[in-house]
Amino acid sequence: MTIDGVAASGKSSVASGVARALGIPYVSSGLLYRAATQLGREAGVRLGDAAALLTHLRARPLRLEALPEGNRVWQGERDLTDELHSSQVDAGVSVVAALPEVRAWVDDQLRALPAPFVAEGRDMGTNVFPQARAKFYLTASARVRAERRSQERPEDVDAVEAALIERDRRDAGQSAPAPDAHVIDTGPLTLEGVIETILQVLPT
Ligand code: ADP
Ligand code: CDP
Repeated sequence: MTIDGVAASGKSSVASGVARALGIPYVSSGLLYRAATQLGREAGVRLGDAAALLTHLRARPLRLEALPEGNRVWQGERDLTDELHSSQVDAGVSVVAALPEVRAWVDDQLRALPAPFVAEGRDMGTNVFPQARAKFYLTASARVRAERRSQERPEDVDAVEAALIERDRRDAGQSAPAPDAHVIDTGPLTLEGVIETILQVLPT
């Protein structure tokens, strides 16, 4: 099954809760885009330069570890995960994610993972796993999402909201609900409420 949605709509927290209830892993596609961005930053590569980015990504491959309580990204023995949720990565990731070569690199890794799992991101239900047995798309107002995300970033809620709106704008080309997705506004719900809603509509 797939859970897509706009930035900070609750995708990873909800995917983790649903996956734990089902006893299967979840897979965070955004973490791979974030890791590609962070490695590009470290290497001093221009983030729009697909060829240079791919050269780095192929020279030292990344591995997504799909733990139920939270995904991690490794490069050899190095765990990159804690560096991937900075405001700097937030600001660059949509440029990297717009590159078709990087999207193909992410999609290949996701499609190689052993099923079943819950896939979360922007285009899991539309592009990567169009045959998924159930699809969800999470939304919430920019203000609600900024209030949640500002608990996890040093910037104030107005700055976080402006950054989220800008990222949604840049991601719009690759983020839309699949025609057969259940759209859930998480604004009025608790995290547990969203997880419960999804579990109730899942086919048995
Ligand atoms: P995303 O993966 O879409 O960026 P996260 O899973 O990181 O979103 O969620 C952002 C934050 O919002 C988390 O701290 C999460 O616990 C919190 N949150 C609060 N209320 C809700 C809710 N009703 N639904 C989803 N997430 C919520
Ligand atoms: O958690 P949040 O919504 O803030 O971001 P994320 O899911 O970690 O995704 C980070 C970025 O990766 C997004 O802003 C998109 O640019 C990109 N992304 C994408 O293009 N396609 C996906 N399937 C997942 C993420």
